[in-house]
Amino acid sequence: MPLGTLDETTSTLIHSPAGPDPEWWRTAVIYQIYPRSFADANGDGIGDLPGITARLHHLTELGVDAIWLSPFYTSPQHDAGYDVADYRQVDPRFGTLADADALIARAHELGLRVIVDLVPNHTSDEHEWFQAALTAAPGSAERNRYIFRDGRGETGQEPPTNWESVFGGRAWTRITEPDGTPGQWYLHLFDSHQPDLNWENEEVRAEFDDVLRFWLDRGVDGFRVDVAHGLIKDQEFPDWGGHTTMVGGQDDDSVDAGDRPQAPMWDQPGVHEVYRRWHRVLADYEGDRALVAEAWTETPEALARYVRPDEMHQAFNFDFLCTPWDAAELRASITEGLTTSDAVGAPTTWVMSNHDVVRASSRLGLAETGKGPNGIGAEETQPDAALGLRRASAAALLMLALPGSAYLYQGEELGLPEHTELPDELRQDPAFFRTRGEEKGRDGCRVPLPWEAGADGFGFSPTGATWLPQPQEWVAFARDAQQGRPGSTLELYRTALRLRKDLDLGAGSLAWVDGLPGAAGDSVLAFQNGTVLVLVNLGEQEVPLPQGAQVLLSSAELSEAADGGALLSPDVTVWVQLPQA
Ligand code: GLC
Ligand code: CA
Repeated sequence: MPLGTLDETTSTLIHSPAGPDPEWWRTAVIYQIYPRSFADANGDGIGDLPGITARLHHLTELGVDAIWLSPFYTSPQHDAGYDVADYRQVDPRFGTLADADALIARAHELGLRVIVDLVPNHTSDEHEWFQAALTAAPGSAERNRYIFRDGRGETGQEPPTNWESVFGGRAWTRITEPDGTPGQWYLHLFDSHQPDLNWENEEVRAEFDDVLRFWLDRGVDGFRVDVAHGLIKDQEFPDWGGHTTMVGGQDDDSVDAGDRPQAPMWDQPGVHEVYRRWHRVLADYEGDRALVAEAWTETPEALARYVRPDEMHQAFNFDFLCTPWDAAELRASITEGLTTSDAVGAPTTWVMSNHDVVRASSRLGLAETGKGPNGIGAEETQPDAALGLRRASAAALLMLALPGSAYLYQGEELGLPEHTELPDELRQDPAFFRTRGEEKGRDGCRVPLPWEAGADGFGFSPTGATWLPQPQEWVAFARDAQQGRPGSTLELYRTALRLRKDLDLGAGSLAWVDGLPGAAGDSVLAFQNGTVLVLVNLGEQEVPLPQGAQVLLSSAELSEAADGGALLSPDVTVWVQLPQA
């Protein structure tokens, strides 16, 4: 009687399967490479493009469809490359344009698509445009590529608005005019080395069309668009009471997200015109080239506006990333993510980790399991590492069973924890400095990857050098220590990705299943994608699996009940094959 007990259940269809032959980005699993920490070829301790090219085959073995590369362009690295001084050149730390071409060619040879990062909200202060703006006069064409304003107060000594930088401190910096007098102020939503561009200026728009074409001509398959919700500012430049976080910025939980006033620097209606224009640039190229939005919007509805049919193709679902480890909240977030993106005909783009947040296997081991703090320091409460890894593995099997596209962040497939004990003097994230250490910042999720347990620097570099130190415990997380070892996180990801492909889960459906026998009430998340039943135990009790369940994969070993049946322990996800109808 295979799963006969399922007759007692009710199911609620939320999302129907994709049509035939969906574009690749609708279902792809995309692996984020953070170039400085993936693999170092020349031995200076900083990862580089040749290092990536030499190790790409590991990613095809893992079973991903595409890679996204964080910025590798010319940059003084005040924000780890998100401060670009030349959008058409590779930073010598990472290699040369020829190295980028070789990387793209090798990836394509291996069947991997390539997405590069585009940073349009701001440039580096070393960009030739900003240098020209500093020496030009107020009101000049050079200044008008950025957001320069006179200060307030009698002598212009006060900033033009009260806006804060996302990284802490004020969002305006005053310059000294060429004649030596205190001058205008320029806006930087991030570090003072990252002046915001003026997207009201057609010259800026034309320049970025050209940057897109530059990389499209070199064969890239798409762009991840940095701070996509930030390009257009309210031209009234009103003062703003909220704290400037990446999301809307009002921390007032007593007001529903959708009802809070719109922050003047985020998610302005005008951004969508920019993405319609870029959509047309990409459409001129053969193949399905894609744009993915990094947009921290207040609501899923607002996020869906970025992926309307004539705009971008994907938008990271950060609501899912920020959702606490709780069955009801996850269910609500998944339902909302799917229905809002379905409404505009776009895939949902799932993500659990990236280079900006505490790694999932540490985040989920904290007492509070939402978005988590911005970094963790040695003197702070440490995550429960075993619990965190167990939950992160369960969360991965949850995410990879969902229809749509999914992003993995390098090291996630190893279950790598955050480095929570980095000495402050080694930190590089501007958020650490601009908040005067109040936020530890993002360095702990950016530590060089461990490849070989027995090598210096765990094989990251031929010399053993690593730009940030790796924790000793990582010996157990090294790729070669996990390869081929049953039960390792790496093998779990490999099997999950293989099954996801074989069963076409990315193009599949989602129906919530309620009323499973014995399911410990509301603490089990149960859904069906095609003929696969997925159960996630978020409660504290063991839960019996339906009788005769044919287990495809589980994130940890199942235990045995007295009657011989299988039990799903807390913080475990299982994929079960349902009999074909
Ligand atoms: C994005 C990037 C982050 C960077 C910021 C400013 O959020 O992911 O790393 O610091 O934009 O460019
Ligand atoms: Ca290097």
